[in-house]
Amino acid sequence: MAVTRTFSIIKPDATRRNLTGAVTKMLEEAGLRVVASRRIRMTREQAEGFYAVHKERPFFGELVEFMTSGPVVVQVLEGVDAVKRNRDVMGATNPADAAEGTIRKTFAESIEANTVHGSDSEENARIEIDFFFDEDEIVG
Ligand code: CMP
Repeated sequence: MAVTRTFSIIKPDATRRNLTGAVTKMLEEAGLRVVASRRIRMTREQAEGFYAVHKERPFFGELVEFMTSGPVVVQVLEGVDAVKRNRDVMGATNPADAAEGTIRKTFAESIEANTVHGSDSEENARIEIDFFFDEDEIVG
């Protein structure tokens, strides 16, 4: 298995509860390395652009509201089979369905306030990393 990269967001429900370190610790313990990290307040334009694939979904407006409601931490994670590894440690989108020991089972408040985002494919990981980071900001 190759070392690859994925993109992660620690969402506003987690920054509000001061869980940035606790979430990152779980990512690191899952074998992922944080090779880029920035704490930002997403603009409406950034949130709408980032989640453009969901713009026809009924929850799109609420999703954008939530993601701009407080600081987030955008990260690039590196590791063996990083996309899958990250999705495994995140757990299911809805915390009610998430397995024990996952980040969402441990911390998420709801399907919307679900603590973390992670890329769902290597192709989307590249697109999402490029959305927030220049290559020279990623230091492996
Ligand atoms: P994320 O991985 O960031 O990608 C899109 C987000 O939309 C998802 O996590 C959820 O937080 C959110 N989402 C998905 N389905 C719903 C829903 N039915 N209601 C509200 N938010 C949702």
